[in-house]
Amino acid sequence: MINKQAKNIDLYKCHRSKWDNCVQKQHILSPSELEKMNKYKIEDDKKRFCTGRIITRTVASRYLKTDSNKIEILFNEHGKPYIKNSKAFFFNISHSGDWVVVGFSDYEIGVDIQMIDTGKKLNIDNIAKYAFHPDEIKYINDSEEEKHTRFYTIWSLKEAFVKAKGVGFYNNLEKLSILPVIKDNNTLIDGLSLSYKKIDEQHVLAIAFAKNMPLKVSEHEFQDLL
Ligand SMILES: CC(C)(COP(=O)(O)OP(=O)(O)OC[C@H]1O[C@@H](n2cnc3c(N)ncnc32)[C@H](O)[C@@H]1OP(=O)(O)O)[C@@H](O)C(=O)NCCC(=O)NCCS
Repeated sequence: MINKQAKNIDLYKCHRSKWDNCVQKQHILSPSELEKMNKYKIEDDKKRFCTGRIITRTVASRYLKTDSNKIEILFNEHGKPYIKNSKAFFFNISHSGDWVVVGFSDYEIGVDIQMIDTGKKLNIDNIAKYAFHPDEIKYINDSEEEKHTRFYTIWSLKEAFVKAKGVGFYNNLEKLSILPVIKDNNTLIDGLSLSYKKIDEQHVLAIAFAKNMPLKVSEHEFQDLL
């Protein structure tokens, strides 16, 4: 499906300035998606959800050569969405801050974007205590200036890892050190190739991919497809 010579992941991004273009296409969502979308109280959350599903349906319909409203999205027992009757086609959605991203691949994939929030709203030390390896805690505390960026980079890598596994919850996350990826971007950890990058000053993106091969990501702006 995806041209493996050139790349193994197609990544579609949509900035908040274009979410309204996606919301206009909400008629292609399923009744249950529309119901879920309308339950969100915060307008941005509604738009992020809608945009993720519009990207998924639009891109999947092109790969699978079918109408976007005919794509059937099912969920595994931990809530990870997948496309019915499509064994060789995987995707994963993430949204945070100003971005919605969806990664597509021939192999299981996890994608996570995090807004680097430097405010005091989230107690990063408390989160690190339960989910981070002692080496990771030392790494984030080694730089006061970089502390938040380091924290969110590790967090997004761990979320992408868990999302690729499709488990929703990973036992002993604090025993898993993701630091080898920080040192050498594009590293294999527990069967997953992991990589990260900052997509702008405030957002970090991580991808985990169930294949031992370097990630070759082809990035697209979703609005170019509309
Ligand atoms: C389910 C979970 C992976 C979602 O991640 P998130 O950062 O809150 O939100 P994101 O925007 O990145 O991802 C949400 C999307 O992931 C997908 N998703 C939901 N459950 C999933 C799962 N179990 N596995 C993979 N993807 C999942 C959905 O498409 C969802 O978007 P949608 O409902 O709009 O379609 C996360 O809430 C979770 O349970 N993490 C557990 C791991 C952990 O403890 N991490 C702590 C940090 S180290």
